[in-house]
Order: sequence, then structure tokens, then C-alpha cells
Amino acid sequence: MPFATVGGRRLSYEERGAGRPVLLLHGFPFTSESFWPQLGAPPSGFRLIVPDHRGFGMSEPAPGPATMEALAEDALALLDALGVPQAVVGGVSMGGYVAIALTRRDPGRVKALVLMDTQSSADDEAGKARREAVAKEVEESGVSPVVEALLPKLMAPAVDPTVRARVEKMMRAQSPAAVAAASRGMATRADGKDILSRFGGPCLVVVGEQDLITPPEKARAMASLMPQAQVAVIPGAGHLANLEAPEALSRVLAPFLQST
Ligand code: MLT
Repeated sequence: MPFATVGGRRLSYEERGAGRPVLLLHGFPFTSESFWPQLGAPPSGFRLIVPDHRGFGMSEPAPGPATMEALAEDALALLDALGVPQAVVGGVSMGGYVAIALTRRDPGRVKALVLMDTQSSADDEAGKARREAVAKEVEESGVSPVVEALLPKLMAPAVDPTVRARVEKMMRAQSPAAVAAASRGMATRADGKDILSRFGGPCLVVVGEQDLITPPEKARAMASLMPQAQVAVIPGAGHLANLEAPEALSRVLAPFLQST
């Protein structure tokens, strides 16, 4: 796995395919591996660039909360290191929050957005308190309780058990410090409605029909902010539609990318 030096730290990333760049940003608490079907079969004519957020996978940690702004800065620095001036920017869930923060920071770098199983809203006070409780729990007891609480909500009941097992293994392998930092970082994220309302480029909003965390109504509300957004609901999938139904995702993603 290659590394780039970003802010004096090593950031690991996967890169597959050749052609126009597509940056894919993973969710919580995962790694670049959470795009394994897409990395295994990159859309023809596109170069996928998939970092591990700081502290996750093989990327070095950084002190303090992993704010969405900081993760967006890391991703922009990776694009700089790879000589990529502009990319389609996609993210799953927390990766979508980072994609929105990146668009706020430097909209000229964003050719188009792909927002998968995510939302534009900030956390309310109760949500922020839950994030802090998660951070404290992983610091005190490791990642297991959080993995066990999150896993039943992530994928639809009919998910392939091998997919479920791989997702669980990936979550259990993450460092408690990184999980705590990302939980605290998500709690402070800004509401993204203003920036999405100003985004004039194309956007594909993808959501699993059975997503319990960011359900289809949230996806539709987010898409309605943008003049050029289209919504794809993936039948039978939950919050990890790109893993639960990769062929169905590919049927909407490939033509969208070709159109950009
Ligand atoms: C994710 O999948 O990244 C998380 O569900 C995001 C969140 O907790 O808001």
C-alpha cells in the first residue's frame, strides 16, 4: 500500500484504475478496504484514489479530534501529492461529511460529488453527547462494545454473511484512539446545507433502501438542496450500499461518472 506524507504524517491510500480521478472517502470506523468491490473493479476510464483517514488502517494518527475539516485537509494534501488538481469526490457516511467539508474548503477541486448513505445535517445536542459517550467508551473498553452496538444498524438483515464478517473484522482492527478522535470530530461538524446549496456541479446521492442511520428521506432532502443532484435508492441495501449491493451501485455510478 503506498503512502504520502501529509502534514508531516504518513497517510496510506489505495489507487486503482487509470483515467479521470475519483477520490473515495471511507466511513466510520472503517478504512479504505471498505471500498473493496470498487477497488477490485474500478470503473473503466477512472482512477480511484482511496485514503485511510488519519489513525485508521495504515495511516498515522494525529493528536486531537479528527474534525471533518482536518480529514478534508488530509485528502486535499493527498491530491496535491499525487498532482491531481480536480477530482470527482465521493464519500460514504462520515466520508460524505468529509466530502462536504472538502467542498467548503476548496470547491474548485470538486468536479462532481457522490454522496453515499450520508447526510448534510450537523449533530444536535443529544447526538453530540452520544458521540462523546462513544469516544469515552472506546478509550475505556476498546472498540468491541461500539462495534457490537453499531453492527446491527449498518447492513440490511439479508446481507451476505461473508460481507458482514469482513466489515466486522475491519471495525475490530481499528485503534481505539482513532475511533474516539473521529467520533469527537463528527460531533463538531458544521451543517453542510449552505455549501451544498451553493454547489453548482453534478451530484449523485446514493442511499440504501433500508439504511437505518441515514435513511432515504434524509438523502432526498439533501439532494433537494442541489440544482444538479440525482438520487439513486439501492433496493434491499442498508447503510453500506457500496458493499451490500456493489453491482447495483456500479449500474448508477458508472454512467454518472461518464457524464461528468
Ligand atoms: C458512518 O458510517 O460513517 C457513520 O454511521 C456516520 C455517523 O455516525 O454519523
